[in-house]
Amino acid sequence: MKILVTGGTGYIGSHTVVELINAGHTPVIVDNLSNSNIGVLDGIKSITGESVSFYQVDVTDIQALDKVFSENHDIKGIIHFAASKAVGESVKEPLKYYRNNLVGLMNILECMKKHKVGSLVFSSSCTVYGQPDILPVTENAPIKPALSPYGNTKQICEEIIRDTVASCEGLHAILLRYFNPIGAHPSALIGELPLGVPQNLIPYVTQTAAGIRECLTIFGDDYDTPDGSCIRDYINVTDLAKAHVVSVDRMENGKQESDVEVFNIGTGRGTSVFEIVNMFEKVTGVKLNYKVGHRREGDIEKVWADATIANNTLGWKAEKTMEETLASAWKWQQSLK
Ligand code: NAD
Ligand code: WQD
Repeated sequence: MKILVTGGTGYIGSHTVVELINAGHTPVIVDNLSNSNIGVLDGIKSITGESVSFYQVDVTDIQALDKVFSENHDIKGIIHFAASKAVGESVKEPLKYYRNNLVGLMNILECMKKHKVGSLVFSSSCTVYGQPDILPVTENAPIKPALSPYGNTKQICEEIIRDTVASCEGLHAILLRYFNPIGAHPSALIGELPLGVPQNLIPYVTQTAAGIRECLTIFGDDYDTPDGSCIRDYINVTDLAKAHVVSVDRMENGKQESDVEVFNIGTGRGTSVFEIVNMFEKVTGVKLNYKVGHRREGDIEKVWADATIANNTLGWKAEKTMEETLASAWKWQQSLK
């Protein structure tokens, strides 16, 4: 099937494009390269042997987007990754986030309606749960007030999709709520490319190990967790990518139980920051320079997924071990030298 992948040269998008090709699909990428570069296409080609069709288009430009749909009338489904994703930046520049993330999605939905494309997979986030009252968190947990404009865009996008699907015969969607995606393709030919100082834990860890950053600061050791540091559900990016492939297949095969389905995409295991640091040192043999600092404002204390519905209904399960995943992140970091 021909699948349009917005944000397809980005971190999760590029890994998903590889898995779509591995599964026999034909991805078409739309990306404005605002947070990725064209060289990613070479990485995809080296891994899969395929040259992927690419449009340098901004999804907020509806005319340009419409042209892509017109030139690819046989598109069967859309995976919509394109969005701005830096939580801190979203607090400083909320309008950039509301414009890019909301207008981008609305344009995709307009084009889907006009060109009669029925299947949408949307990148949502565990951020919609805030600090859950019950762990592991299920898809039925209440949506908590967003802690950032970025988080708010994910909540609003979910609602925009629900309302649009309800109003439009033939349109359906799968919302994937990712937990914390980490790692890189085992080939180290594609991976995460954070610009500037990384905000996320794993790129900060690998850059510290590589000597690019002097010292990792662990944000707080006084949380109500066994070792005092925060707990997350870290999901391997290749495992996460495969969840998108089964989602498009599910929709195209008419297997959905409702027009909008929601799945938690995580491992079901919580890992603390100290555990990550220790495991990284063990797997790579590199001693990590770190210190304990203050809590980071807005951080959730602990969250991990109940992925039972994804496991049983979607037929998807996280497969990679944390050790393999951390090794892949380190191999990718080393390939950047
Ligand atoms: P990324 O920044 O690596 O990829 C996003 C891609 O979209 C980039 O290549 C960027 O150039 C492109 N893009 C952004 N705005 C665009 C626009 N207006 N038009 C066209 N292209 C545009 O981010 P990622 O980590 O791969 O995230 C992909 C999606 O998953 C995002 O929607 C993000 O919010 C969501 N998500 C990410 C995480 C995470 O921790 N990485 C967690 C949960 C959800
Ligand atoms: C993980 C843990 C930090 C950096 C963010 C977004 C969320 C989602 C994924 C998209 C936390 C600790 C981190 C450092 C540290 N994105 N940490 N030192 O905060 O779970 O989620 O990215 O939807 O919306 O909020 O991920 O990687 O930033 O942090 O101690 O230098 O690592 O406190 O406990 P987070 P993260």
